[in-house]
Amino acid sequence: MQLRLTRPDDWHLHLRDGAALAAVLGDTAARFGRAIVMPNLKPPVTTVALAQAYRNRILAALPPGARFEPLMTLYLTERTPPFEIEAAVRSGCVHAVKYYPAGATTNADHGVADWRRVRPTLAAMERLRLPLLLHGEVTDADVDAFDRERVFVERELQPLRREFPGLRLVLEHVTTAEAVDFVRGAGPDTAATITAHHLLWNRNALFLGGLRPHAYCLPVLKRERHRQALVAAATGGEPRFFLGTDSAPHARAAKESDCGCAGIYTAHAAIELYAEAFEAAGRLDRLEAFASWHGADFYGLPRNGGTITLERRAWTVPATLPFGDGELVPMRAGQTVAWRLVPSA
Ligand code: DOR
Ligand code: ZN
Repeated sequence: MQLRLTRPDDWHLHLRDGAALAAVLGDTAARFGRAIVMPNLKPPVTTVALAQAYRNRILAALPPGARFEPLMTLYLTERTPPFEIEAAVRSGCVHAVKYYPAGATTNADHGVADWRRVRPTLAAMERLRLPLLLHGEVTDADVDAFDRERVFVERELQPLRREFPGLRLVLEHVTTAEAVDFVRGAGPDTAATITAHHLLWNRNALFLGGLRPHAYCLPVLKRERHRQALVAAATGGEPRFFLGTDSAPHARAAKESDCGCAGIYTAHAAIELYAEAFEAAGRLDRLEAFASWHGADFYGLPRNGGTITLERRAWTVPATLPFGDGELVPMRAGQTVAWRLVPSA
């Protein structure tokens, strides 16, 4: 069986930089036409000039013949001035601003402790219709790690939505039924991305026969009832839910560690893994809208012109992939994926 789709886009991706970027970019460019590229580099991409330079490094690292457009983002800090938002919109290459609650995840130390401290910048984004992409977790040490998204929705997102009703919001990598319900109830300027790993795994994957660092990401995997809510949202045909892999490569040694990094690498089989999740739900017919249409429509960009073809033929994922000086362990390492990408002619 084959499945042909409008070439999809990845609306949430970590590409890193330097040798790491060169190692992973081809996997995404083989599958996706465009990707929203996360700005959590060291140092973070906080200005239009830094975003333009990063974009040029990505284009220079593309495999020969690849046609892929990186859609750049700015990293919001408590010092991002409104004029940087105006410059972002004028640039034509910056498509959104990323909000990391300070300390929430990898390279989030320069993030924002409280959105109430950056009101003029958010007002400029609302006026200019530049989307704010949210890592939706509170960081309080006394909030249970599995509740941090739900508490963020109640305590931060609902007031933010009320104070800036025209601000375009994307709640990134949603993991809970509560986040899905918020997006459903919030009107046309609120959307969410959903990862393949949150569709395929619940939190038992973290403890399958032992502690599994390669299943650790943030927001952390949740219980089965939440996974089912995500599957319903992704496969429901609702236009404000779309594909964002959050593929987040880390060197094997950084994950298999006393204090391992958060992030799951899925770019090597991204659309194939989503096809598995949609097939399991009996909704392969809705994969194309989720992967190739809804995101472009929300961002006000044209849908891609070309297509990709998937074939239902299992293949075995390598145990490791090269990653600069080291290696990384991809999702499903040493195991099979049911769908494969048919190489384009
Ligand atoms: O698991 C994650 N990895 N979550 C994030 O929010 C950041 C990402 C990364 O950059 O590694
Ligand atoms: Zn991410």
